[in-house]
Amino acid sequence: MASLTETHGHDHTPVPMTSSPVTNLSGSISVPGDKSISHRSLLLGAVADGQTRVTGLLEADDVMATAGAMRALGANVRKDGDTWLVNGMGNGALLEPTEPLDFGNAGTGSRLAMGLVAGYDFPVSFVGDASLSSRPMGRVLNPLRETGLQVESAEGDRLPLTVHGSPLPVPITYRVPVASAQVKSAVLLAGLNIAGTTTVIEPVMTRDHTEKMLAGFGAEIAISLDGDGARHISVKGQTDLVAQDIVVPCDPSSSSFPIVAGLIVPGSDVTVENVLLNPTRIGLFDTLIEMGADLTISNRQVSGGEDIGDIRVKHSALKGVTVPADRAPSMIDEYPVLSVAAAFAEGETVMLGLDELRVKECDRLAATARGLEANGVDCTEGEDTLTVRGGSGVVAGGGAVQTLLDHRIAMSFLVMGMASQKPVSVDDTFMINTSFREFVPLVNSLGADLS
Ligand code: S3P
Repeated sequence: MASLTETHGHDHTPVPMTSSPVTNLSGSISVPGDKSISHRSLLLGAVADGQTRVTGLLEADDVMATAGAMRALGANVRKDGDTWLVNGMGNGALLEPTEPLDFGNAGTGSRLAMGLVAGYDFPVSFVGDASLSSRPMGRVLNPLRETGLQVESAEGDRLPLTVHGSPLPVPITYRVPVASAQVKSAVLLAGLNIAGTTTVIEPVMTRDHTEKMLAGFGAEIAISLDGDGARHISVKGQTDLVAQDIVVPCDPSSSSFPIVAGLIVPGSDVTVENVLLNPTRIGLFDTLIEMGADLTISNRQVSGGEDIGDIRVKHSALKGVTVPADRAPSMIDEYPVLSVAAAFAEGETVMLGLDELRVKECDRLAATARGLEANGVDCTEGEDTLTVRGGSGVVAGGGAVQTLLDHRIAMSFLVMGMASQKPVSVDDTFMINTSFREFVPLVNSLGADLS
């Protein structure tokens, strides 16, 4: 879906890499801060009264793009020692930016920021790289239009585009048609600067960081379940938000790469510390345990209202399973690396309900299937399913994988190369910087051979 053409200065020279087979990954590591919570810390900090202090913020390109955008909207965002400081403008007091907000590769940052500015009567332009410019924005723009937002885009609700909120935006009640935390969050953030109560109805629960953090910042937020089990989340607009001290837990999505590596590389014993264990994020760990993974969680604690713990894995003989569609929201970013685990399992792994993978940083369903095939793995790509027939610990490897500006495709197939018979190459690792700068040195410190 993404082409490597230049878009808004985001051209880069590809950085290919090869991962060669190793044995005995071992050690204890911690991965960087959670991307979802990092974006939201900056977005909410920017509209709170006072100084929000964030430790453990993910310092990857996606989050730095959100930091830049919040600066452009008037907030002072800077780092002091290990702490990020956000001097908020106060709710309703963002300023008109003088230049387009450049979100690079960041879908979450851009979509949530569209919501945040939707209740302001001034224009805000959004630009990004080739991948982001190919992703559908209508899913957030359509509900925001119901508040009175005007949108100008040459490319049918794709970036580059300009939004302009109504002088008198109206609060909406919106039933989210796809399971998307970004859509839910964009509407709730828009509601912050709209008089009255904005409600999102979420038939399928997605990651709940926005609602939890809004409550933490003192927003008037109410959550209830209806008779069908749908969640109704309401926020009252134009109330004051209060600056917070936030400790960002380690990202479970980033932790999934060393965890799957530890499971497939013979002789391994790997621990990833202080991982966020929010129930809306841990579908991969449940699935791996069903597959027979030796995966244990210890040192469970609550930090900043979130469950965290240390995850230890040892090399395991995995078995294929069926992953039900209703688990997809809790592991939506983890299917590429689950597919790598499935390639090493015995028997068939069937993943259902994957339609949302088609609109990630690339068409992740197709990119994963092509990467598996390039490495001799027998798989079938359906419209919204992927079936992987595993090699009981044996994967040929030797393939060259196209990563299509997608960090998670790059990391997943580098993990595959750690345990396949021949090395696996990926065409570009540059995008890994969008979420997990430390990936290569960290996995090499466990014993991987990425070069
Ligand atoms: C995110 C939501 C998910 C996920 C993305 C982060 C968030 O996207 O894929 O990486 O922080 O809200 P969708 O809402 O499109 O499922």
